[in-house]
Amino acid sequence: MSGPRTRGIRSSPVGGEAIRLRRLRRTAPLRDWVAETDVEPRRLVSPLFLRPGRGDPRPVDSMPGVDQYTVENLTALGPELETAGIGGVLLFGVARQKSPDGREAWSPTGLVPQAVRALKRSAPRLVVATDVCLCAYTTHGHCGVVRDGQVDNDGTVDRLARVAAAHAAAGADVVAPSAMMDHQVAAIRSALDRTGCQATAIWAYSSKHASAFYGPFREVERSTPSFGDRRSYQMDPRNAREALREMAQDEAEGADLLMVKPALTSLDLLARARERFLLPLAAFQVSGEYAMLKAAAAGGVVDEAAAVRETLVAIRRAGADVIVTYFARDLARLAAEGR
Ligand code: PBG
Ligand code: ZN
Repeated sequence: MSGPRTRGIRSSPVGGEAIRLRRLRRTAPLRDWVAETDVEPRRLVSPLFLRPGRGDPRPVDSMPGVDQYTVENLTALGPELETAGIGGVLLFGVARQKSPDGREAWSPTGLVPQAVRALKRSAPRLVVATDVCLCAYTTHGHCGVVRDGQVDNDGTVDRLARVAAAHAAAGADVVAPSAMMDHQVAAIRSALDRTGCQATAIWAYSSKHASAFYGPFREVERSTPSFGDRRSYQMDPRNAREALREMAQDEAEGADLLMVKPALTSLDLLARARERFLLPLAAFQVSGEYAMLKAAAAGGVVDEAAAVRETLVAIRRAGADVIVTYFARDLARLAAEGR
């Protein structure tokens, strides 16, 4: 640089030379003051695996630190999550008795309706959302009913509407259809409206990729398909424009919130959806993402709390309002300790 110099001091530096981005990074208070993104506990949703019967919470083998809960366990767990300031829970039921059409999924006395009632009693300030699908209830493990070797869209949609209506009747605030059937949101909206549940919100799993990261979840739910895979209904991870079409379609069908998953492989979709849609956006950090971080931490490769926070910050930065994460409890605990 050959700018004019006066007594060895550069006179009025111009343009880029005046700017020093490190000034606001100098101390922790300065950094916190201007930080753009927070991961507040109120935005977090804790997925909860339910199991029939009684007894203590049962650790899940494929996911260290995650338990399966009985309905009774929720009496203590609900207030704990509520006190921690977590926004809500997303309930995953499982069939006592699996069947070809997964009929237990829409039983008004099934595990999920019971759990909803228990949580509404024990923790009235928690948002209670329920996963609406058939895969934990069908003998073949597919997300819908099978006809001639194929997952039948419209037959499945009728049943999903019954499932959602059963959850809503039990008092769920939000139902979250995850089966990736066409028109599932429209069918659920009309079933809810017909049964006096106009106030129940629909949280559409709009962009759900056929992913390698659902493995630990399927082990818990014993929902791995017994034949084929889910690629005729879940989205091809190569497609982003199609993901935006899924979201536009769900919005048109009456969805109240949109979701993408897995989170870390959908950051581009979050960013694009944030520009395009006005609805609240959610991302689901799925079981395989959790297990991967846990394994890396257990192997001494990363610091768990720091790595987890970094992933959640990235998900927020990309545009998510709400994050479903199996780390929700740990994070709320850290936040309560002021860390
Ligand atoms: C059920 C459902 C799945 C997940 C959420 N809802 C599994 C699947 O589609 O196979 C994945 C959640 C996770 O891996 O944490 N349709
Ligand atoms: Zn499913």
